Amino acid sequence: MKRYQVRTISIVLCLSMMVFANAGFAKEPLKKERNRSHIEIDPTNTGTYTGDAGKDNFIANCSPCHGDTGKGDGPLAETLGEGVRPRNLSDGKFLSVRSDEFLFKVIKSGGVSVGLSESMPSWKETFTDAEIKQIIQYVRNSICKCKYKDK
Ligand code: HEC
Repeated sequence: MKRYQVRTISIVLCLSMMVFANAGFAKEPLKKERNRSHIEIDPTNTGTYTGDAGKDNFIANCSPCHGDTGKGDGPLAETLGEGVRPRNLSDGKFLSVRSDEFLFKVIKSGGVSVGLSESMPSWKETFTDAEIKQIIQYVRNSICKCKYKDK
Protein backbone atom coordinates (compact mmCIF):
# COMPACT_ATOMS: atom_id res chain seq x y z
CA MET A 1 0.00 0.00 0.00
CA LYS A 2 1.22 3.41 -0.84
CA ARG A 3 1.68 5.97 1.85
CA TYR A 4 -1.11 8.30 0.66
CA GLN A 5 -3.54 5.38 0.54
CA VAL A 6 -2.89 4.57 4.18
CA ARG A 7 -3.45 8.20 5.05
CA THR A 8 -6.70 8.41 3.06
CA ILE A 9 -7.99 5.26 4.71
CA SER A 10 -7.26 6.53 8.19
CA ILE A 11 -8.92 9.87 7.44
CA VAL A 12 -12.01 8.09 6.14
CA LEU A 13 -12.03 5.85 9.23
CA CYS A 14 -11.71 8.83 11.49
CA LEU A 15 -14.53 10.68 9.75
CA SER A 16 -16.87 7.72 9.86
CA MET A 17 -16.19 7.20 13.57
CA MET A 18 -17.10 10.82 14.15
CA VAL A 19 -20.32 10.38 12.21
CA PHE A 20 -21.18 7.27 14.24
CA ALA A 21 -20.40 8.97 17.50
CA ASN A 22 -22.64 11.87 16.58
CA ALA A 23 -25.44 9.59 15.47
CA GLY A 24 -25.22 7.94 18.88
CA PHE A 25 -25.63 11.26 20.63
CA ALA A 26 -28.55 12.23 18.46
CA LYS A 27 -30.37 9.03 19.38
CA GLU A 28 -29.87 9.59 23.10
CA PRO A 29 -33.15 11.22 24.19
CA LEU A 30 -32.77 14.66 25.63
CA LYS A 31 -33.19 14.33 29.36
CA LYS A 32 -35.78 16.79 30.48
CA GLU A 33 -34.73 18.67 33.55
CA ARG A 34 -37.48 18.28 36.10
CA ASN A 35 -38.78 21.46 37.45
CA ARG A 36 -37.70 21.15 41.04
CA SER A 37 -38.82 24.07 43.00
CA HIS A 38 -37.37 24.45 46.42
CA ILE A 39 -40.22 25.86 48.39
CA GLU A 40 -39.95 25.03 52.02
CA ILE A 41 -43.10 24.56 54.00
CA ASP A 42 -43.58 25.35 57.60
CA PRO A 43 -44.85 22.16 59.28
CA THR A 44 -47.46 24.18 61.11
CA ASN A 45 -48.34 25.99 57.90
CA THR A 46 -48.60 29.68 58.37
CA GLY A 47 -50.69 29.90 55.24
CA THR A 48 -48.40 32.48 53.74
CA TYR A 49 -47.79 30.49 50.58
CA THR A 50 -50.47 31.43 48.11
CA GLY A 51 -49.37 29.82 44.85
CA ASP A 52 -51.32 26.98 43.35
CA ALA A 53 -48.40 25.19 41.72
CA GLY A 54 -49.81 21.88 42.96
CA LYS A 55 -53.13 22.39 41.23
CA ASP A 56 -52.40 20.65 37.92
CA ASN A 57 -50.90 17.64 39.68
CA PHE A 58 -53.86 17.44 42.02
CA ILE A 59 -56.43 17.63 39.22
CA ALA A 60 -54.58 15.08 37.09
CA ASN A 61 -53.69 12.56 39.82
CA CYS A 62 -55.87 13.00 42.88
CA SER A 63 -59.17 14.12 41.37
CA PRO A 64 -59.97 10.73 39.83
CA CYS A 65 -60.63 9.50 43.38
CA HIS A 66 -60.90 12.57 45.59
CA GLY A 67 -62.77 14.72 43.05
CA ASP A 68 -61.88 18.15 41.64
CA THR A 69 -63.05 19.86 44.81
CA GLY A 70 -61.66 17.11 47.05
CA LYS A 71 -65.02 15.88 48.34
CA GLY A 72 -64.12 12.24 47.70
CA ASP A 73 -66.49 12.01 44.75
CA GLY A 74 -64.14 11.44 41.79
CA PRO A 75 -65.07 9.03 38.98
CA LEU A 76 -63.02 6.19 40.52
CA ALA A 77 -64.45 6.67 44.01
CA GLU A 78 -67.15 4.04 43.55
CA THR A 79 -64.76 1.44 42.18
CA LEU A 80 -62.41 1.05 45.15
CA GLY A 81 -64.27 -1.71 46.89
CA GLU A 82 -66.70 -2.31 49.69
CA GLY A 83 -66.52 0.34 52.39
CA VAL A 84 -63.48 2.11 50.91
CA ARG A 85 -64.02 5.78 50.15
CA PRO A 86 -61.47 8.40 49.21
CA ARG A 87 -61.19 10.87 52.06
CA ASN A 88 -63.10 14.09 51.83
CA LEU A 89 -60.15 16.48 51.58
CA SER A 90 -62.42 19.53 51.59
CA ASP A 91 -63.35 18.83 55.21
CA GLY A 92 -61.52 21.62 57.04
CA LYS A 93 -62.21 20.17 60.51
CA PHE A 94 -60.65 16.92 59.48
CA LEU A 95 -57.57 18.30 57.75
CA SER A 96 -56.87 20.93 60.37
CA VAL A 97 -55.93 18.19 62.83
CA ARG A 98 -53.54 16.59 60.35
CA SER A 99 -50.05 18.00 60.20
CA ASP A 100 -48.29 18.63 56.92
CA GLU A 101 -45.80 15.90 57.89
CA PHE A 102 -48.63 13.41 58.19
CA LEU A 103 -50.10 14.46 54.82
CA PHE A 104 -46.64 14.28 53.29
CA LYS A 105 -46.18 10.74 54.55
CA VAL A 106 -49.56 9.45 53.41
CA ILE A 107 -49.15 11.01 49.96
CA LYS A 108 -45.52 10.00 49.48
CA SER A 109 -45.69 6.47 50.91
CA GLY A 110 -49.37 5.64 50.51
CA GLY A 111 -52.27 4.82 52.84
CA VAL A 112 -50.66 1.64 54.12
CA SER A 113 -47.72 3.60 55.58
CA VAL A 114 -50.05 5.26 58.10
CA GLY A 115 -52.43 2.35 58.65
CA LEU A 116 -55.00 3.46 56.08
CA SER A 117 -56.31 1.63 53.04
CA GLU A 118 -53.98 0.50 50.28
CA SER A 119 -56.46 2.14 47.88
CA MET A 120 -54.68 5.38 48.67
CA PRO A 121 -51.62 4.91 46.43
CA SER A 122 -48.02 5.87 47.10
CA TRP A 123 -46.81 8.77 44.92
CA LYS A 124 -43.08 8.57 45.48
CA GLU A 125 -42.44 7.29 41.97
CA THR A 126 -44.51 10.10 40.46
CA PHE A 127 -43.62 13.24 42.38
CA THR A 128 -40.55 14.85 43.85
CA ASP A 129 -40.76 15.86 47.51
CA ALA A 130 -41.16 19.47 46.40
CA GLU A 131 -44.09 18.56 44.17
CA ILE A 132 -45.78 16.72 47.05
CA LYS A 133 -45.34 19.81 49.22
CA GLN A 134 -46.92 21.92 46.49
CA ILE A 135 -49.90 19.56 46.37
CA ILE A 136 -50.27 19.84 50.16
CA GLN A 137 -50.19 23.61 49.86
CA TYR A 138 -52.82 23.48 47.15
CA VAL A 139 -55.03 21.27 49.33
CA ARG A 140 -54.58 23.67 52.25
CA ASN A 141 -55.17 26.82 50.24
CA SER A 142 -57.90 25.77 47.83
CA ILE A 143 -59.45 22.45 48.87
CA CYS A 144 -59.94 22.50 52.66
CA LYS A 145 -59.03 26.17 53.05
CA CYS A 146 -57.63 25.24 56.39
CA LYS A 147 -54.42 25.35 58.37
CA TYR A 148 -53.03 22.82 60.78
CA LYS A 149 -54.21 23.48 64.32
CA ASP A 150 -52.20 21.63 66.87
CA LYS A 151 -54.43 20.36 69.64
C1 HEC B 1 -57.12 5.36 43.52
C2 HEC B 1 -57.79 6.33 44.33
C3 HEC B 1 -56.99 7.43 44.99
C4 HEC B 1 -56.14 8.33 44.40
C5 HEC B 1 -55.78 8.43 42.93
C6 HEC B 1 -55.67 9.20 45.45
N1 HEC B 1 -56.23 8.84 46.64
FE1 HEC B 1 -55.93 9.73 48.44
N2 HEC B 1 -57.07 8.37 49.34
C7 HEC B 1 -57.77 7.36 48.70
C8 HEC B 1 -58.51 6.59 49.67
C9 HEC B 1 -59.42 5.41 49.39
C10 HEC B 1 -58.23 7.16 50.94
C11 HEC B 1 -58.79 6.75 52.29
C12 HEC B 1 -58.00 5.64 52.88
C13 HEC B 1 -58.68 5.15 54.14
O1 HEC B 1 -59.58 5.79 54.64
O2 HEC B 1 -58.24 4.09 54.61
C14 HEC B 1 -57.31 8.26 50.67
C15 HEC B 1 -56.77 9.05 51.68
C16 HEC B 1 -56.02 10.16 51.44
C17 HEC B 1 -55.50 11.01 52.48
C18 HEC B 1 -55.56 10.72 53.95
C19 HEC B 1 -56.44 11.60 54.73
C20 HEC B 1 -56.45 11.11 56.13
O3 HEC B 1 -55.77 11.70 56.95
O4 HEC B 1 -57.13 10.13 56.39
C21 HEC B 1 -54.87 12.05 51.85
C22 HEC B 1 -54.18 13.25 52.50
C23 HEC B 1 -54.97 11.81 50.43
N3 HEC B 1 -55.66 10.66 50.21
C24 HEC B 1 -54.43 12.64 49.47
C25 HEC B 1 -54.32 12.28 48.13
C26 HEC B 1 -53.59 13.05 47.16
C27 HEC B 1 -52.91 14.37 47.45
C28 HEC B 1 -53.66 12.37 45.99
C29 HEC B 1 -53.01 12.72 44.67
C30 HEC B 1 -51.58 12.89 44.68
C31 HEC B 1 -54.47 11.18 46.22
N4 HEC B 1 -54.84 11.17 47.54
C32 HEC B 1 -54.80 10.26 45.25
C33 HEC B 1 -57.78 7.10 47.35
C34 HEC B 1 -57.03 7.76 46.41
